[in-house]
Amino acid sequence: MTTGSGGNGSSKLGSLRLQHYLVMAGVAATVFVACLRYMPAAATGYGLSIAGPALVESSSVAVARAAAAAAPKDEPPPVVIINFGDSNSDTGGMAAASGMNIELPQGRTFFRRPTGRISDGRLVIDFICESLHTPYLSPYLKSLGADFSNGVNFAIGGSTATPGGSPFSLDVQFHQFLYFRARSMELINMGQKPPIDRQGFRRAVYTIDIGQNDLSAFMHLPYDQVLTTKVPGVVAQIKYTIEALYSHDARKFWIHGTGALGCLPQKLAIPRKDDSDLDAHGCLKTYNAVARRFNALLGEACNQLRQRMVDATIVFVDMFAIKYDLVANHTMHGIDKPLMTCCGHGGPPYNYNHFKACMSAEMQLCDVAARFISWDGVHLTEAANAIVAAKVLTGDYSTPRITIASLANSTLTNNEG
Ligand SMILES: *[C@@H]1O[C@H](CO)[C@@H](O)[C@H](O)[C@H]1NC(C)=O
Ligand SMILES: *[C@@H]1O[C@H](CO)[C@@H](O)[C@H](O)[C@H]1NC(C)=O
Repeated sequence: MTTGSGGNGSSKLGSLRLQHYLVMAGVAATVFVACLRYMPAAATGYGLSIAGPALVESSSVAVARAAAAAAPKDEPPPVVIINFGDSNSDTGGMAAASGMNIELPQGRTFFRRPTGRISDGRLVIDFICESLHTPYLSPYLKSLGADFSNGVNFAIGGSTATPGGSPFSLDVQFHQFLYFRARSMELINMGQKPPIDRQGFRRAVYTIDIGQNDLSAFMHLPYDQVLTTKVPGVVAQIKYTIEALYSHDARKFWIHGTGALGCLPQKLAIPRKDDSDLDAHGCLKTYNAVARRFNALLGEACNQLRQRMVDATIVFVDMFAIKYDLVANHTMHGIDKPLMTCCGHGGPPYNYNHFKACMSAEMQLCDVAARFISWDGVHLTEAANAIVAAKVLTGDYSTPRITIASLANSTLTNNEG
């Protein structure tokens, strides 16, 4: 373990802002609203601390973009992914929206520069893009260097499915999509070519990974109330969004369930009376029961939608099974301490301290080569995301059992090839 350097006053301010954001994933999204409203825009030169070639893409991505641009006419049409979600799939939207430069050690393992991702490296959505030989998704709000020809990412860290639960809740992300789509149609009507054309929107895979922040925010409420009213309410929002996307021509859906909330160090570090709520793997039973209930209802909602939207493909992915297996069978995956945070404070058992979190001056970082599941107590490491993505890509956790590659490549059943 090494201790992070304190830095000067301005980077402390930055750290504080980021801490607000990281903590929010588990506690209160309103903190971010407060940050957005009351932080002075110039934030004492905070953004100036990173210099250098920040916008250089990795060469493989640049090659992928070039290949996509050069594809001859008779090749299959390019992959288009339109993503909605929270920090689990935020490729820089939160950073762009708030003007935060999310500094190292974020990104230290792969990008080695601030990209706005909350992890030491790539996210599951990044690995999905790589597997489809398409560049990483540009955040909708990225104002420089964005390329939307292979899709657009509306995911923003801290987002909830519940309207008003966060500044960029799923309904807002959906309206941003409508705005983006309407501007694209406007360009077409003016005889210009938008990055995604009408066929592109129809053939696109619409991916959604949201709900973790909603569930986290409920956990102080009575357990029965969470299960009987709160969780169904969150699922209803996601279901409604799928219907709304469908009514705007979306036909291919890839819906992620939520992960093993009760195995997150941030939850485990909350003081408890005794260990009676811990399961055989050291995770919190109540949190995991809520996550499982959410997934069961979301899976059921997808079943219902499949009956009604017969010309759509709606794939539900059981992220709980994947992420719980990662903890339960951690030695198989080469992981030593499945419940310990890589970037946190306090050492074993969880290395997580709510007030001395990752990105605070007092953070303690694991070795770069160490294999941890949890990056900061809430978000996964690149190593964990790679394992999760590999399982997602098998299609074995999908209902119906298909891969995202075949979904992306599939021909629509009417009007279009
Ligand atoms: C652990 O791995 C075994 C063998 O692959 C599997 O049967 C079991 O379901 C896994 N445990 C969990 C909790 O996922
Ligand atoms: C997609 O379909 C085309 C044409 O049918 C095929 O050549 C290509 O290999 C497919 N790609 C994937 C990822 O399945």
